[in-house]
Amino acid sequence: MRCLLTASLVAGLAASALAHSRVSDDPVRQRKSLGFGPVHKHAVYRSTPYQVVTNAFTRMPVDADPFQVARAFVEDILGNQLSETNTYKIRKDSYTDPNTGVTHVYVRQVINGLEVADGDMNINVMDGMILSYGNSFYPGSAEPLLDDDIRHPHLEFCDGLTDQLSEHYPAFLASQEVMSADTEQLMGHLTHVHHSNCRFQNLAAELAPSADPRDNGLRSALLQFMVSATPNDDVVNDILGNFDAYMDKMVEYSAADHFAPSDEPAPYMVHNVPDTVNPVKAKLAYVQVPTKDDSVRLSLVWKFEVEMQDNWYEAAVSAVAPHRIISVVDWASDAPVPVPPQPQTATYSVFKFGVNDPAEGKRTTEKENYDALASPVGWHTLPYANDPSFQGARLANKEFYRNTTTTWGNNVFAQENWEGQNSYINNYRPDAGAGKSFDFAYKPKETNKTDALEEAQKFINATVTQLFYTSNMVHDLYYRYGFDEISGNFQQYNFGRGGQGNDAVIANAQDGSGYNNANFMTPPDGQNGRMRMYLWNTAIPYRDGDFEAGIVIHELSHGLSTRLTGGPMNSGCLPFGESGGMGEGWGDFLATTIRSTSTYSDFAMGSWAANRVQGIRNYPYSLNETINPSTYKTLDKPGYFGVHAIGEVWAQILWLVSQGLIKQHGFSDTLFPPQPREDGSVPEGDFYRPASGKKPLVPKHGNTLMVQLVLNAMKLQPCRPGFFEARDAIILADQQLTGGENFCTLWKGFSSRGLGPDADVVLRTPWGGGVRTDDFEVPLACAAGKA
Ligand SMILES: *[C@@H]1O[C@H](CO)[C@@H](O)[C@H](O)[C@H]1NC(C)=O
Ligand SMILES: *[C@@H]1O[C@H](CO)[C@@H](O)[C@H](O)[C@H]1NC(C)=O
Ligand SMILES: *[C@@H]1O[C@H](CO)[C@@H](O)[C@H](O)[C@H]1NC(C)=O
Ligand SMILES: *[C@@H]1O[C@H](CO)[C@@H](O)[C@H](O)[C@H]1NC(C)=O
Repeated sequence: MRCLLTASLVAGLAASALAHSRVSDDPVRQRKSLGFGPVHKHAVYRSTPYQVVTNAFTRMPVDADPFQVARAFVEDILGNQLSETNTYKIRKDSYTDPNTGVTHVYVRQVINGLEVADGDMNINVMDGMILSYGNSFYPGSAEPLLDDDIRHPHLEFCDGLTDQLSEHYPAFLASQEVMSADTEQLMGHLTHVHHSNCRFQNLAAELAPSADPRDNGLRSALLQFMVSATPNDDVVNDILGNFDAYMDKMVEYSAADHFAPSDEPAPYMVHNVPDTVNPVKAKLAYVQVPTKDDSVRLSLVWKFEVEMQDNWYEAAVSAVAPHRIISVVDWASDAPVPVPPQPQTATYSVFKFGVNDPAEGKRTTEKENYDALASPVGWHTLPYANDPSFQGARLANKEFYRNTTTTWGNNVFAQENWEGQNSYINNYRPDAGAGKSFDFAYKPKETNKTDALEEAQKFINATVTQLFYTSNMVHDLYYRYGFDEISGNFQQYNFGRGGQGNDAVIANAQDGSGYNNANFMTPPDGQNGRMRMYLWNTAIPYRDGDFEAGIVIHELSHGLSTRLTGGPMNSGCLPFGESGGMGEGWGDFLATTIRSTSTYSDFAMGSWAANRVQGIRNYPYSLNETINPSTYKTLDKPGYFGVHAIGEVWAQILWLVSQGLIKQHGFSDTLFPPQPREDGSVPEGDFYRPASGKKPLVPKHGNTLMVQLVLNAMKLQPCRPGFFEARDAIILADQQLTGGENFCTLWKGFSSRGLGPDADVVLRTPWGGGVRTDDFEVPLACAAGKA
C-alpha cells in the first residue's frame, strides 16, 4: 500500500516544531510547507582543473565565445549519449558576469522534446576554459520508462513506520549512536510525520487516473496535489467529497504564444484551482527517480507552478499515476521558528544599517544614502511603465519616471499587511510629503499578547519606514557584490542592464498571516519576491520583527541565494536537505557579518525579536567549541532534518572560515565599496586592493573578501548543491578572484568543523538525512610546515 500524502514529510517536522513553540492562543494560520524530491546520486560537481578533463575537449582561445566553449564542452562530455531524441538547450538566463568575467552557462536536458526538469548542467567558462561544472543529466538511454516499480523512498513511510525505518535505514539508525531516550525522540518526530501525512493513504486507489477521455491527466494530478498542499482541512474535505465537481470546474488554456513560433511545447494555464491565488502553470516534463536496483529512470510528470496564499510550489506529479508526487519545492522560505519554551533624498528615523535591533542602539536620522551604481534613481523613483499602481497611466504622462513620497520605489514596495492577504498595492504605507522626511514616532509600550497588534499598529509608520530602509540597504549592498540585474536581482526597472524587471520585493510589515517568524517567496526572475514580516509574541513585551535587521537580512538573502544558484530563472535549486539548509545558513551568515564590528563578538540569531538571549537557533555563532560545538556530522543528529538546523551548521562553518580571512586580511568597518566616479569606474579607496589591469577588483579585508567569495560561489555552484559542492565553489571563487592565495586559510576553516577534503556522506535521504564522516585534516599542500 502506498501513501498518498507523501508530500509532507518536511512539513510535518516544521509544523511540529511550530506547534511546540507557540505560546499564544491567537488564531494563527499554520503555514504548511512541503519540500522533497529524489536524491541524485549520479550528480557531479567538478571544480578543480584536474577534474575538469574530458575526452577531447581542450582549452579554446582566450577570446572564444563562451557559449561556443560551453557547447563544445557539453557535446564532449555527453558524447554518445546525445542523439536526436536526447539533447540539450542553453537556457536564456545564462549570463556573463561583468564583475568577475565568468560566463555562467545553464544547460537543460531535453528528451523527446520535453525538458528533464532536474537534468541540469551549470558550466562556468572564462578565457576559453571551463572553470567548473555541475551535471545532473539523466545518464541512461533516452527511452523513458513509466514503470510502476519506480521507488520513491518517501512513499514508504506510510506502511508501518518502524519496519520501514529499520528496513531502509538500518545504518542510519545505527549511526545515530543514540540510546533509548534519544531513539524515542527520533521516533517521536517520525511518528508525528506518519500520522499527519499518511491520513489519506487509502484514497490513492479512488483517486487513481480518471477514466474520462477528455482528461489528459493534468487536472486530476493537480487536484490531488492540492489535497496534499492545502493547509486547510475544510478544503481537503470539500475536494475529496466533490472531486468530480472540482475537476469539471477547473479549466485549462494553452498559453501558446501565437505571435512568434516557439521551440518548446506551450504550457497550460489552469484556472479555478482550489486554494490558489493565481492560475496554475502546467507543463509536461520528465524527472529522474531512483529505481530499486539503484539506477535512475525517467518518469513523465506534470510540472506545476502553484501560487497559494502562503506557499508558491513548483511540483512534479506523475502523469501516469497522479497520486504520486515526485518532488515539491516551495519557493517560499520561512525564517526561523523559535525554539521552545519560551532626487531630493529622503531622510529616515531608523536604526541605522549595522545596528541589528533596538537593544543595540538608538534610532538616528539617516539619509537616503543610495548607492549610485545599485540604485541610480534612488529608492523613491520608478518608471510609470513599471509601476503596478499606475497601470496604463504612462500614456497620459509625459514623464518617464514617477517620484513617490512613500515607501514605494524601484527596489522595494513596503507596506502594512495586517489582513495577511495577498494584495499590497492599496495597503497602507507612510507618506512623508514633499520633504520626504520619514520621521515617525516609535514608542513601543509594554503590552501583553492580547493588545500586541493594536499597540504595534500605532507605530506602523516607523515600522514600514524601517523595513523599507533596511531592504533598500540590502539591495544596494548585495548589488555591489554582484547581485545585479543580469544575475536576477529584484527591481521593477532594470535600466537596460539585462535580466528581467518587474520584480521588486513586496515587503509586508506586521503581516497578519503569522506570528514569530518571517518568510520570503522567490519565484524566478521577472516575478516579484514577497517578504512577510511578523510580530513576535513569544515573550512579553512582544516585538515587531521589522525592527530586527537580522531577520530582514536573512529573508532577503533567500532571494539572493535562490536567484544566484543554478541561474536566475531556476528557483528550484535550493529545495530541501543540505541545499535547502544552506539557503537558511547564508542568510544567518550574512546577517551576522553585517552586524559585526572590528571587535570580535559571538552573535545569536533573533535574540531581540524572540526576547531570548540565546536566540532562536540551537547555538550562537561562535569561535568557541564549547559555545557552538557544531560540526558537519552534527547533521546526522535527531532534530537536524529541518532546513534551519542544517543551515545553522553551515552558517557556523562560514563564520569560522570568515574569521580566518579576517585574521589574515584585517577587518573593514564598512561593507559598502566606494561610490563610483563620474565615468562609472570604481575607485579602489581603502576598500579594494590596487587594481591590476582588467581584472576584477578584489576586496582588501577579510570580511569584505568573504562576502565577495560567498556571492561569487553561489553563482559557481551547481543546482541542488550539498555542503561539499558549496565549499568547493568557495575555494574555486578564491582561485578565480585571487589566484588561490587563500586556499589553505579557507580549507583550515572548513576542516576545523569537519568539512575537510575527505569528509563524506552516505545514505542520503531527500530531507537531509544520511550518515556523515567528519574530516578535520587539511589538504596535503596545507599541512603543517607547508602552508
Ligand atoms: C522626479 O524628480 C526628478 C528629479 O528631481 C525630476 O527631474 C522629475 O521631473 C520628477 N518627475 C516628476 C514626474 O515629477
Ligand atoms: C493585558 O490585556 C488585558 C485584556 O486586553 C488588558 O485589560 C490589560 O490592561 C493588559 N495588560 C497590560 C499590562 O497591558
Ligand atoms: C502616520 O503618519 C501620518 C502622516 O504623518 C499620520 O497622519 C498618521 O496619523 C500616522 N499614523 C499613525 C498610526 O501614527
Ligand atoms: C569557551 O566557552 C566556555 C563556556 O562559556 C568557557 O568556559 C571557555 O573559557 C571558553 N574558551 C575560550 C578559549 O574562550
